[in-house]
Amino acid sequence: MFCMPRLRAFSGIQPTADSLHLGNYLGALRQWIDLQSSYDCVYSVVDLHALTVTPDPEALRRRVRVTAAQFLAAGVDPDQSVLFVQSQVPQHSQLTWLLNCVTGFGEASRMTQFKDKAAKIGEQGVTVGLFDYPVLMAADILAYDAHVVPVGEDQRQHIELSRTLANRLNARFGEGTAQVPEALIIKETARIFDLREPNAKMSKTGHPAGIIELLDDPKTITKRIKSAVTDSGTEVAWDPVAKPGLANLLAIYSALTGQPVQTLVEQYQGKLYGHLKADLAEVVVEALRPIRRRTADLLDDPSELDRILDQGKDKARGIAQGVYGRIAERFGLAVQEA
Ligand code: TYM
Repeated sequence: MFCMPRLRAFSGIQPTADSLHLGNYLGALRQWIDLQSSYDCVYSVVDLHALTVTPDPEALRRRVRVTAAQFLAAGVDPDQSVLFVQSQVPQHSQLTWLLNCVTGFGEASRMTQFKDKAAKIGEQGVTVGLFDYPVLMAADILAYDAHVVPVGEDQRQHIELSRTLANRLNARFGEGTAQVPEALIIKETARIFDLREPNAKMSKTGHPAGIIELLDDPKTITKRIKSAVTDSGTEVAWDPVAKPGLANLLAIYSALTGQPVQTLVEQYQGKLYGHLKADLAEVVVEALRPIRRRTADLLDDPSELDRILDQGKDKARGIAQGVYGRIAERFGLAVQEA
């Protein structure tokens, strides 16, 4: 029987905190798990990207492992998908250089995440690495000939740049030089907002009270959801503009239970926001409990985590070496056999 080869998915998460947060989980990680049954999946702990925020070396080492453990605990299956640490595959950096040489300075300057971060840090603190971050991200994606990239909304512009660069390589060196990737963004969970500032995205660098971390204990989760900022009204209704805090809670509730938002709104008619918050706290605690437990188990068994990451590194290198060789040759470089 003739079997069509599977399309490939690639994605990554930065190891910049001691726990992933609910935005990472609902915006990206849950998609990763779902795609495993129909795509050839490659997932990475992108530690080179994390260097752009100059982490303490010891903290970075720890966070790489904690992040990988959370991928596994949430359901990434290392026998089905490739799970690896970005810096262990040298082709990411090599391909970044080639892409640097076809990326316009103005084009890179227009990346909104760079502009936002640069504005926060101030001109003196901005590194070339931070500026080049989206090009490294394009290299991650193109090095695996990825067809799709499951991410949250905040990564859309970066993936647009990856598409532009892939198209440029094909125009310059001939079709088939690079696979043009597509972003996979799930509308309902594309942007999970901060619980304290419901107009800002939930982020691991923000105020702790606005964030639900996957490894938070039940008491912390409950406290943070119960003190989430909502409006002064009382009626439970879906109105992301007038009631952004409540809409965020409803979106999280719906994503974790599979119940449509409209059903939830009807269920809470005549009840107070407090009822919804108390129920949601329980939903989140129960959804995260197994992830927290499995992460702890994985971290208790360092040799098993090492084995999985080692196996992933070999598989990732196997793919990236071939793709890099093809692209580098088209540039006119003499590529050495590995
Ligand atoms: P990072 O590490 O900031 O976030 C990882 C993933 O989580 C998603 N995300 C969210 N989704 C919904 N609501 C939120 N509040 C929220 N916060 C974060 C992000 O969209 C992302 O999918 N540049 C990337 C990492 C990266 C990458 C790649 C991704 C490096 N190379 C190649 C895809 C392909 C980043 O900083 O993600």
